[in-house]
Amino acid sequence: MGTERTLITGGSVGIGAALADVFAEHGHDLILVARTREKLEARASELRQKHNVQVTCISEDLTDPAGPLRLFEAVNALGLEVHNLVNNAGVGLYGKFMKTDLEAERRMIQLNATSPVELTKRFLPAMVARRRGRILNVASTAAFVPGPWMSIYYATKAFVLSFSQAIDYELSSDGITVTTLCPGPTESEFKVRAGSQRSRLFEAFVMDAPTVARAGYDGLMKGKAVVVPGFRNKLIPVAARFIPRPMIAMLSHRAARPSEKR
Ligand SMILES: NC(=O)c1ccc[n+]([C@@H]2O[C@H](COP(=O)([O-])OP(=O)(O)OC[C@H]3O[C@@H](n4cnc5c(N)ncnc54)[C@H](OP(=O)(O)O)[C@@H]3O)[C@@H](O)[C@H]2O)c1
Repeated sequence: MGTERTLITGGSVGIGAALADVFAEHGHDLILVARTREKLEARASELRQKHNVQVTCISEDLTDPAGPLRLFEAVNALGLEVHNLVNNAGVGLYGKFMKTDLEAERRMIQLNATSPVELTKRFLPAMVARRRGRILNVASTAAFVPGPWMSIYYATKAFVLSFSQAIDYELSSDGITVTTLCPGPTESEFKVRAGSQRSRLFEAFVMDAPTVARAGYDGLMKGKAVVVPGFRNKLIPVAARFIPRPMIAMLSHRAARPSEKR
């Protein structure tokens, strides 16, 4: 049994599963959250065998506005303390705003932006009372720029980055750190779920989830405010600081538009 417990949303596959592996490797007990119970259980038994840690699975739909409270209550009912909170679950939606589905956008905003806010709000008081806690919010390099072809997704990630940096500052005297992980394109189920297989974004410089997760874990443990894994990805916040915003939108459009190869 580990000395710390970490709750990871979207911990069954992709970046979340890779994060679960790194936390477990460092002796953390885990609470893994996602909708699909079988995938959670499969991941959990792998982690228990490999790292000898306790893993609790909670199946919850965080696009449901009532989901975060149900999750918080389920954790409390099990009597589990959460020392580290990782808000990782998220989806994208590819397409021009005129054509994309409003309901899908509502669900994406709930999952990517509202749910991390509510989970942070609910788990934070106990962390502050213990004067010990770490929060890792998974945003994206999309957080730094406007994103034609994925406008709402990029906006949710800008929200996560802004919110996280602000509360990291507020909480600095309470013994709590808030780290924002901003990956670029990463191998996972994301691009298919987002319908962005056609996008040029995934044609080159795609990182693997374990490398991204390790950078996130290391940054979190060092109490860094923002972690951008990979040299090419690190250029994005730098460019966003120096290039005028309309030009950034144009470059971002060129990077994300449908590929002619497909
Ligand atoms: N992959 C990339 O290129 C990339 C780049 C930058 C940032 N990110 C961010 O990284 C995070 C993880 O993405 P990923 O690439 O690992 O995606 P992924 O492979 O699609 O995994 C998403 C995870 O979230 C869970 N999830 C999805 N919808 C959910 C819901 N409604 N309620 C609860 N859990 C839900 C999924 O499980 P279930 O479907 O079973 O619920 C799964 O465990 C996201 O926030 C994403 O925006 C990804």
